[in-house]
Amino acid sequence: MSNRSQLISTGKPFQFDRERDAEFERLSTRYPTRESLILPALWLIQEQEGWICQEALAYAADRIGTFASKLYEAVTFYTMFHLHPMGRNHICVCRTLSCWLLGKQEIVDFLKNEIGITPGQISEDGRFSLEEVECLGHCGTAPVVQVNGEFHENMDAGKLKELLATLP
Ligand code: FES
Repeated sequence: MSNRSQLISTGKPFQFDRERDAEFERLSTRYPTRESLILPALWLIQEQEGWICQEALAYAADRIGTFASKLYEAVTFYTMFHLHPMGRNHICVCRTLSCWLLGKQEIVDFLKNEIGITPGQISEDGRFSLEEVECLGHCGTAPVVQVNGEFHENMDAGKLKELLATLP
């Protein structure tokens, strides 16, 4: 599992690009309190950069008008937020009960042999990153793998191999 408590500083200022800035302003009118913007703002950062650095978190706190510690609580609680750069293709393997019983370890072992990465690592060429996550909410079709945000159910090593071959 990746380190879920460490914020990394890039040493560079962050700001939303024009598209995310407009989306943030649009969302600002939708919620009754500014703090409701915490999760959407974090999501916009991750959409833009692929991960959330210290400067981006401080920027979002400032835009929302709240303490950075509140965003830190959210970003370290939800495993869908990344606190360090990810591979071009990010693979999440569910490790909770149904998936664990129905073969998640076979999938993790396959990725280790095929790509050479274990959970929490990025492949040397930057093409893949791997993370084990808690229940993805599709327990009836376990084991479940999420690749770049898309769910793949009833997964096994063979299907995953075919899927990986289609990725950039
Ligand atoms: S246990 Fe894996 S999706 Fe729920």
